[in-house]
Amino acid sequence: MAKYPKVNYIGNKEKLADWIIEEMPVKNGMVLDIFAGGCSVSYALKKYGYSVVVNDILYADYVIAKALIENSDTRLRESVFEKKINEKRVEELEKKFVFLAECLYYTEEVRELSRLAAIAEALKGYEKYMLLALIRRAMIRKLPYSRMNVPWEQIQKLRDEDYSYMKYKRKRAYHNQSFESHIRENIDEYNNAVFAGKECKVYNCDALDMVRKIDFVDVVYMDPPYPSTMNNYDAFYGMFDEMFDKRRRHVDYTQKSSFLSNMDKLIKELAGKTQYIVLSQNTRVHPKPDEIEAMLRNYGSVVIKEKKHNYQVTGKGNKNSSKELLFILEMEDGRAK
Ligand SMILES: C[S@@+](CC[C@H](N)C(=O)[O-])C[C@H]1O[C@@H](n2cnc3c(N)ncnc32)[C@H](O)[C@@H]1O
Repeated sequence: MAKYPKVNYIGNKEKLADWIIEEMPVKNGMVLDIFAGGCSVSYALKKYGYSVVVNDILYADYVIAKALIENSDTRLRESVFEKKINEKRVEELEKKFVFLAECLYYTEEVRELSRLAAIAEALKGYEKYMLLALIRRAMIRKLPYSRMNVPWEQIQKLRDEDYSYMKYKRKRAYHNQSFESHIRENIDEYNNAVFAGKECKVYNCDALDMVRKIDFVDVVYMDPPYPSTMNNYDAFYGMFDEMFDKRRRHVDYTQKSSFLSNMDKLIKELAGKTQYIVLSQNTRVHPKPDEIEAMLRNYGSVVIKEKKHNYQVTGKGNKNSSKELLFILEMEDGRAK
């Protein structure tokens, strides 16, 4: 049975995905996961038999979506590591990736990463995206706190296994494993996650541009960065995008002052293009849930579902203080299929 693999995505909905699917207002059809991130919801939708359109602004997420959602049968062989590659290209990439050295990884690790990126470049079709998704996961696994915006001084400290043991009673030796060993550890899990579902399509654009590309979908699922929480996805994963020249400007949904007006614009653009919008939020967000509800009511009828949920980043004091919310908006001018 295909299973969503270890992706390590901050703010992911892996543990909530079954609940979100249960609450979907249609039981089949096409769903657009417009802020797809690590694709846990897209993956569950595909499994439950929906046709899925996947989108995220980050290339780091696009490669996951290509590998696990759009891909229906391509698996990666371990012999990929023996692939003959042009040494000149490895050197070129090493120069290109110099911004990662002594910033996220040690210089010799950047050399290893350049070799793996050169192999990925030489692959075709979904094999390339399978390897890129595994490279992304290996990069994250080697970083303390699983994100790319921790200062180098702190990274070095936390990668010192004796220091880590003394301070946190955990050596975290996996930060010091090679990229290749991480990929080898995860390759079966990623291969086993590949399966054929209904037709799926993947995009890598700003949410507003995404809406302009579609004609009609049954549901748009929205899991935007929650304003006023750990939400700087560009900083968490953007250096991966930078390696492949994919960093782009986009509408900012992370600010509490502009969140409502930006969401309002997005929903306005969706008029006539979907029957339902399902929006994930939680009770601790600002703007407050009743402000979000009031904005949504301008477009149709709204039902709110809630479920207890604690994100792993929450501290002791926050335990059980948060509930996950789903706003289900039936659009007034949603055209039925
Ligand atoms: C809360 S995360 C989604 C998590 C996802 N549901 C999961 O389970 O992994 C929000 C996502 O919105 C994306 N994002 C932020 N601004 C965007 C924009 N303007 N257009 C498209 N995606 C955007 C971020 O890159 C991030 O992946």
